[in-house]
Amino acid sequence: MKQTTMLEIQALKGQEKITMLTAYDYPTAMVLDQAGIDIILVGDSLGNVILGQPHTLGVTLEHMIHHTKAVSQGVKKSFVVADMPFGTYQASTEQAVQNATDLIAKGGAHAVKLEGGKPILSTVERLVSIGIPVMGHVGLTPQSVHQLGGYKTQGKSEKKAKQIFEDACALEKAGAFAIVLECIPEELAQKITDTLHIPTIGIGSGAKTDGQVLVFHDLVGFTPSHIPSFVHPVAHIFEDLTNHVKTFIARTKEMSS
Ligand code: KIV
Repeated sequence: MKQTTMLEIQALKGQEKITMLTAYDYPTAMVLDQAGIDIILVGDSLGNVILGQPHTLGVTLEHMIHHTKAVSQGVKKSFVVADMPFGTYQASTEQAVQNATDLIAKGGAHAVKLEGGKPILSTVERLVSIGIPVMGHVGLTPQSVHQLGGYKTQGKSEKKAKQIFEDACALEKAGAFAIVLECIPEELAQKITDTLHIPTIGIGSGAKTDGQVLVFHDLVGFTPSHIPSFVHPVAHIFEDLTNHVKTFIARTKEMSS
């Protein structure tokens, strides 16, 4: 099976919707890959989803390399993007180069994703200049949760919408190959999508983007936590698994010695 390339992902813009889901482990990656997902994101949402943390801020580069490696082992075709966690790309461009290189070389990712706009443009330019594909991420950027005051829709005011729009345009100019638009109004997502030449991949930002991304565990209901209102779960795996474990317990307890 042929590995999907960055250029093939970009060529989907205007042709067909791009699909992206998160995975943090080998079997989930195999399921997504074999189902035909375009992009697998090893998101730093692994902090919340897998490590049970309240946010993504405690996720380390070592966590990301460990999980990206597992995901890469299960993938034959999908394009694998790994999140650069909080604190691994802000201190200096050289710090970002070292850490992005590790995610590619040790983790096996094909690209990295960074959150933010203007403050990270020179870092994006540098990573792209040394051959590392970069996915941008604007709107609700969970690594800035303390500054944003919670997980809420961004870009509702004219001023904030203008800033997000400008950040998206600047990321394209800096060389990002695609960009995640998280929790922004649909009209703003459409304006960005219509303006940019690179694909936009939305989450909680309406249907007008070039693609959609979700956290896999939200999609299949494999979480005890609140599922965002824009997700329409296709299964209730947490409840189902609980019932399967109960069946095992009951069968075992009933066994005669
Ligand atoms: O970490 C993640 O899962 C993400 C998606 C929500 C886009 O960044």
